[in-house]
This record gives sequence, C-alpha cells and structure tokens, in this order.
Amino acid sequence: MSELRCIACGLRISNPGHRFRCSACADLLEIVYPGWVTSDGMRAASFTAPTLKALWRTRRKSFVPIDQSGVWRFRELLPAFPEEEKIITLREGNTPLYSLPSCARAVGVQHLLAKHQGMNPTGSFKDTGMTVAASMARREGFRWVGCASTGNTSASMAAYAARASMRSLVLIPQGKVSWGKLSQALDYGAITFELKTDFDGCSRVLNEVVERMPVYLLNSVNPYRIEGQKTAAIELLEQLDWQPPDHVIVPGGNLGNSSALGKAFLELEELKFIARLPQVSIVQAEGANPLVRTMRETGGKSLISVQAETAASAIRIGSPASWKKAVRVLEQTGGTAAEVSEVEIAWAKAEIGADGVGCEPASAVTLAGLRKMVAAGFVKPGESVVLILTGHLLKDPDFTLKFHRGELFASSPHSKPAEILRAHQQAPILLEASGDAVISALERIEERSEA
Ligand code: F0G
Repeated sequence: MSELRCIACGLRISNPGHRFRCSACADLLEIVYPGWVTSDGMRAASFTAPTLKALWRTRRKSFVPIDQSGVWRFRELLPAFPEEEKIITLREGNTPLYSLPSCARAVGVQHLLAKHQGMNPTGSFKDTGMTVAASMARREGFRWVGCASTGNTSASMAAYAARASMRSLVLIPQGKVSWGKLSQALDYGAITFELKTDFDGCSRVLNEVVERMPVYLLNSVNPYRIEGQKTAAIELLEQLDWQPPDHVIVPGGNLGNSSALGKAFLELEELKFIARLPQVSIVQAEGANPLVRTMRETGGKSLISVQAETAASAIRIGSPASWKKAVRVLEQTGGTAAEVSEVEIAWAKAEIGADGVGCEPASAVTLAGLRKMVAAGFVKPGESVVLILTGHLLKDPDFTLKFHRGELFASSPHSKPAEILRAHQQAPILLEASGDAVISALERIEERSEA
C-alpha cells in the first residue's frame, strides 16, 4: 500500500483533496510505500528484484492493455489501482533507447544514449504521468481536469481526459506555446484559455480556480503524475539490463520530471534492483535558470525565482513548483545543475537531428549541458551517459524552420555567436521544376562537400 506524505513537515495525508498540498504547511506531497518492507525490516517477498524483473518481462508478451502500457507494466512500483477497467491508457511508455554516435564524438564521450520520451502517444514524456493521474481523476468521479501548461502537459491531459469523456481546462501563456502542442489540445477537445501572462502566472490562476471549483489538478504537483513518470527510469534500466549508466541528464522546467526520475532510481536502489545510483543532472536555459541560481546562490536552501525567457518554450518557467524535490535529487545522486545559452540549445538540437533522432528545443538542453559538463570535467570521457529527450521534433516545427532559414537569431543579441550554426543549417532550396535544375543543384552541393 502507498501513503501520501508532505515533503516538508512529513505529515501523512489521508485525503489529499484535489489540490495536492499539505493541510498543515501547504508544501508538496509525495507518495511513499511502507508496504515494500515487512515489520521486521525485510523486503516483502513480492518486492524482490528477481521476482519483479521476471514478472515485468512476462507482461511484454501479454495483449492486456495495461500490460502493454510501459507504465502499468511496472504497476508494483505504483500506487495500487484495483479498478483496472478505470485505467486510461494509450499504451504510453515503451520508448526507445537510441545511441547518438555523432553527438558522442562531438562532445567527447564514448557511450552516449538517448531515452526518447518524445515517442510517447502525444509526443512527450507527460503521457507516462498522465495515465496514472488522469485515471485517479476518473476513479474519483471528477468531471473536470485542469492544468497550466507550456504546451505538452495540456496536449497530454486533453488526450487522456478525452479517452474517459472528462472535460479538460487548459491555461496557457498567450503566444508562448508552439502551434503543434496547442493544436493537439484543441483536437482533443480541451477548453483552452490563453492568458495574458507567463506559465508562472497561469499556474497562479489555476490554483485559484481549483480552490473555487471541483477541477482535478493535473500539473506535476499532482504526486500521481510523478509516480507514472518514474517508469521511464525503470524502463531505461530494464533496457540496460539493470546496469545503471554513470550519468542521466534531464531538462528542468517545473522540475517534476527530474524529481520523478531521481525518485525511481532511489527506490530501485532501495529495492536492490541496482547496486549504485546514476548521477542525475538537470539542465536549464540561461534565461530560465531558477534551479541553477537556487543551487549557486543558496546551496539549494531557498528558491530564487526569475523572470523566464527562452525560445525553448516548454521550459520557460521562472518559479518551479517541484524545486525542493529536484534539489533533493541532485543532493542524493550527486548530480549537478547546469545552464546553457540559446545558441547552445539550437546547436545541440541540430546535432541530435543529424543523428537521425531529433527532439524539441527543451530536450536539446541535455546535449548542450553535457558538452559543458565534459568541458568542466564533471563527466569523464569514458563514463556512460543517458540523455532524456522529453519531446518530439515535430512539437515545435516553427523553431526548426527558423533555425534552418537562419532566422532564429537574426537581429538578436545572439546573432554573432549564432554564426557557428551555419554549418548545420539546411534551408529548403527553390528550383525550377526540371530534372536539369535538380541535377545541377545536386552537383554543386557535391562539389562543395568534397571541397
Ligand atoms: N521538456 C519538455 C518537452 C517539456 O514539455 C517540459 C515541461 C520539460 C522538459 C520540463 O519538465 O517541468 O518536469 O521539469 N513542460 C511542462 C508543460 C511544464 O506544461 O508541458 P519539468
């Protein structure tokens, strides 16, 4: 059985309501599993690593929807959900682990892999948490679910709500959500309000709405989202035959995902699935770096909020809700918090694309951050590294097109450093509709690449 506990004062909460805050101190809640250990301090027989590894492997052959889900397949490490027919699943998870050979050469490491969470049903990692939290909302009989979002949460929430005929309320910052993500929320039937504020403002407004109306909160302060998102780490280790990498690098926005992955690694170590922890590091954009500043200026003791600005719109967040959980992950796994510039993000995104993988800008901060960690000696060339790519390349085609057309940094303060990007730009070329035109253009390109 699982229990809800306040991360600050430790109070056990029996009824979290639909806002997920501690009734005593208003801090965030987390889920703990006292049942994993028996009264004499031993691990319960059903929670031994060999038993669970074998069970999870068997489920891969099953045709039952919750066994096919890359989240619910690991349900022993999630809160119990006995009413299986109420689970909303789009067969999330089951995402590929790719090698990134040319990125590895470019940043100077030998073993570089990418866990591509953008290969989830709605194109981002959010689906792994949403299947759990939206199912909870359904089980509790909510008609409305809601979130503030930079785009991916809203796309995911709207899809899962639609599957269960729940209504969804989306609050997004006006003009700051990519069209790809917004169009998903619309197609899945969300009521979408664009507010004249940023993500942090949308979160404030949503909290007020949730106080006053029976809307089930599906932002990552919802601890069931965190539990679902843990499964990316479990699945990653299964793909590595339970040999942990030296480093896992994840983008940081509202800091739910880094908290979730770190929690999973700690739990798997406690349950003896792994003998040592990977170092979990978090990367932010320089213009949206509250965690980096919090670590640098207060040693992780109090949050430094910032006015966030970055073209990686998914992580344009200045006051992250889960900062305390993320600090704990950095401390417990020995990871670091890094920041990268706008040009470095664009460069890294093109490099990941050139390995035939691709991702959205917010995901590319991981490679950009790795480059800095190698330069600083924090990551050694022989160590193994896994980047968590959080969103699909097609989430933000506007960014990609502007990049290749050389428009991303035109007449911006970044235009000078952006010159290094030229070699990666592949703008479409307009030609006359004839074989001759295509062949002579190709010949010119071949000549240039041979020169
Ligand atoms: N990468 C992508 C693609 C995201 O969409 C987000 C967050 C993050 C990284 C950061 O993850 O917030 O858990 O630290 N997107 C949220 C949203 C905020 O509303 O879609 P985090």
